[in-house]
Amino acid sequence: MTTAHATEPKTTADPLALLDIDHVRFFVGNAKQAAFFYAYTFGFTIEQIADLTTGSRDRARYLLTQGNIRLVLETPLSKNDPAAEELRCHGDGVKDIAFTVADAEAAWKQAVANGGESAYEPLTISDDTGSVTTAGIKTYGRAVHSFVSRTGEYAIENVKKGGKFEPSFEHTEGLSINEYNKQNPCGLMFLDHCVGNVDEGKMNHWVQWYEDTLGFAMFKHFDDADISTEHSALMSKVMASGNNLIKFPINEPAEGKKKSQIQEYLEWHDMCPGVQHLAFRTNDCLASVAELRRRGVDFLRIPDEYYEDVWSRVDRCLTEHGLEGVREDHERIKDLGILVDADDEGYLLQLFTKPLQDRPTLFFEIIGRRGSQSFGKGNFKALFESLELEQDRRGNL
Ligand code: FE2
Repeated sequence: MTTAHATEPKTTADPLALLDIDHVRFFVGNAKQAAFFYAYTFGFTIEQIADLTTGSRDRARYLLTQGNIRLVLETPLSKNDPAAEELRCHGDGVKDIAFTVADAEAAWKQAVANGGESAYEPLTISDDTGSVTTAGIKTYGRAVHSFVSRTGEYAIENVKKGGKFEPSFEHTEGLSINEYNKQNPCGLMFLDHCVGNVDEGKMNHWVQWYEDTLGFAMFKHFDDADISTEHSALMSKVMASGNNLIKFPINEPAEGKKKSQIQEYLEWHDMCPGVQHLAFRTNDCLASVAELRRRGVDFLRIPDEYYEDVWSRVDRCLTEHGLEGVREDHERIKDLGILVDADDEGYLLQLFTKPLQDRPTLFFEIIGRRGSQSFGKGNFKALFESLELEQDRRGNL
């Protein structure tokens, strides 16, 4: 007679090993309308819905997808829902950056044992085809990280192929915008990084938190001498997950002559830290930005003077490190108003949208990397000057 247990290997797998970015969940005032905004302007497919028509009576949720990006737009349907109070205080924005893990309950237990504060306890929703377990911990401000583990039909590999996201979701049918997006792709592939704005003096606290609670490590470091203009400054450190699946730069405001963009964010976010921007990776930054511009995405305007010295700065850096120059058409980069930066590993192309809602809080970045793994430090000055022009237009400088 044999006992099955005697031969089972002991598992030493790290419960906090991240398998994927499961999704980014937004709280929005009207998910039905927001879904069409993100679908029309950024090319997301409105793939699945959980709302009153599918039996979800407390919240409406829209799953939007593009490449390996999954956004869940969520709206509370009653005034007593805590999400309704958050919306009143902060407006639309990111609530949750959720990680796919092997076992959500084990990951949550480990994160709490590491000093993380629980946001909500493990919850499993299942039907006869599979299950989804979620559990959450609190990070800065109102943001949380959910751990998500999936089985059966709901496994992440199936979701990526268009399978159901959770038991309560239903696929959309016959939306012409989805067909249009298929014919006119925007080319966004995955979430490259997610930037948080925290209170002054709290950056190091949150750096330590990502190290202790989630086992992340510091990736790059900038100080306020790196990132400052005449008016404003910030400090930023970048935390990376163990497998570099995702990076979380953390910003805090630094002393400047006028109000920093981080301070402006905090003031319009009820003085609560939160997600400042999501950066989406593309393989063809020029094609993506051209398509997004055609659709009416409101990007920051980069002053013409920027292009007077960008090529000498970038080419000098690439030559110094024995790397090939920027292969994309320089004139076209300028026409599209794209920013360029280089380091010892290569170069990157990037561009930032203006705020995506009336409050100057969340925005998106479009980023293409040709070797460079940094975040466009050489662009910060030009970028901040452009940001400050916008801040001034809003009367917030
Ligand atoms: Fe960024």
